[in-house]
Amino acid sequence: MAGWQPHTSIENSREIIKTVFSAPETYPVVLKETDEVVGSVGITTAKSEVHSAKIADNECEIGYWIGKPYWGQGLIPEAVTELLRHAFKNLKMTAVWCGYFDGNGKSRRVQEKCGFTYSHTEYNKPVPLLNDFRTEHFTKLTFEEWKKQY
Ligand SMILES: CC(C)(COP(=O)(O)OP(=O)(O)OC[C@H]1O[C@@H](n2cnc3c(N)ncnc32)[C@H](O)[C@@H]1OP(=O)(O)O)[C@@H](O)C(=O)NCCC(=O)NCCS
Repeated sequence: MAGWQPHTSIENSREIIKTVFSAPETYPVVLKETDEVVGSVGITTAKSEVHSAKIADNECEIGYWIGKPYWGQGLIPEAVTELLRHAFKNLKMTAVWCGYFDGNGKSRRVQEKCGFTYSHTEYNKPVPLLNDFRTEHFTKLTFEEWKKQY
């Protein structure tokens, strides 16, 4: 659902931690009570690997996942809300994008709950890590819209 295969081994996971999870503006989602790392949220900018052709300078895209045992507790909306604050207040972004593959209703709900609204759909998008093509829906939250919520 997020565009990559399940990890195949501990070594494979170590490699992902060193590369994907160590990229700039990529953060762990940590349970406050136990300090356990249970997921990840991150920001990609126009200069890095972004998903929508429509993304402009001073705009970014947010991505996220959380381990299955922790689904349904509102943890990713909580983390994304904080990441939005960081993107708008610290990084001075003018808009933040998000997206989900067709059929990923769980991710669509996260975006709705965080204030994103539907922008457009891109069809037959290549997903290299899955060697496949997908339909992806994009949503957007502008600084002006975000400011009204806070
Ligand atoms: C999408 C995802 C990040 C949501 O995180 P989360 O912290 O569970 O978010 P929420 O608790 O707000 O739940 C979002 C929706 O998921 C659905 N959901 C929650 N728990 C579920 C479960 N155990 N089984 C099925 N659906 C569930 C509900 O529709 C919920 O919406 P609701 O609040 O209106 O009921 C998480 O499901 C995930 O990591 N999925 C796999 C990776 C992925 O899809 N990443 C996003 C790529 S765009």
